Amino acid sequence: MTDCLKMEKFFSVDDLKEEDIELLDPTLRWWMSEQGQVREEEVRVTKERMRASIRDAHDDVYIVARDRAGGSPAGVMGFGCLDARFLPYRSSTDAKAAGLLTAFISPDYRGQGLGKVLITEVFHRASTSGCTEVIWSSNPRYRETAWKFYTAMAGNHTGTIDDFFFPGSLSPVWRKSF
Ligand SMILES: CC(C)(COP(=O)(O)OP(=O)(O)OC[C@H]1O[C@@H](n2cnc3c(N)ncnc32)[C@H](O)[C@@H]1OP(=O)(O)O)[C@@H](O)C(=O)NCCC(=O)NCCS
Repeated sequence: MTDCLKMEKFFSVDDLKEEDIELLDPTLRWWMSEQGQVREEEVRVTKERMRASIRDAHDDVYIVARDRAGGSPAGVMGFGCLDARFLPYRSSTDAKAAGLLTAFISPDYRGQGLGKVLITEVFHRASTSGCTEVIWSSNPRYRETAWKFYTAMAGNHTGTIDDFFFPGSLSPVWRKSF
């Protein structure tokens, strides 16, 4: 069975729900770590943004890959308002660009096509909500775990950005236009 069919058999794409946020906590804590130390503030801010996306009238949209058997989320991605620092990376000044938010698959489920399904759905939903492109970067801590995935999903990066994640950081900027 191909990964995509496996994904469709065992997982569905769904909107993030309030109860998903704590279920995603171990995945967030796993990936938001450096040298064995969880970046607690990053986890807190991320969960708060997820909560706000559900609670408030908000531009942020989060989706999950949901286990059809147990209902629990195996991964999460989202899109929302573009950080102003990415404005120079738009394909034109007329472009309506969204930013990619949190993109994490549980370590138990990586490499089975869930990431591809979620980012494809993010692009689809961004497009149907009136955006013409999605723009994002990725912390250098994810160089080995995500950068090739993003290039596979969006093509070669369109540029690089300095100091986005921390002073001295240099990271690629990807853009997916529809
Ligand atoms: C990055 C991530 C979201 C991708 O999700 P995934 O479910 O593992 O990826 P998929 O199985 O859908 O892979 C889709 C394609 O990308 C490729 N790919 C994925 N990760 C890759 C990697 N690290 N290196 C090379 N290729 C990779 C796959 O081979 C696949 O190619 P194909 O379509 O030709 O078969 C997931 O691996 C993850 O959560 N990584 C750790 C956390 C992280 O780095 N998040 C990003 C924060 S910015």
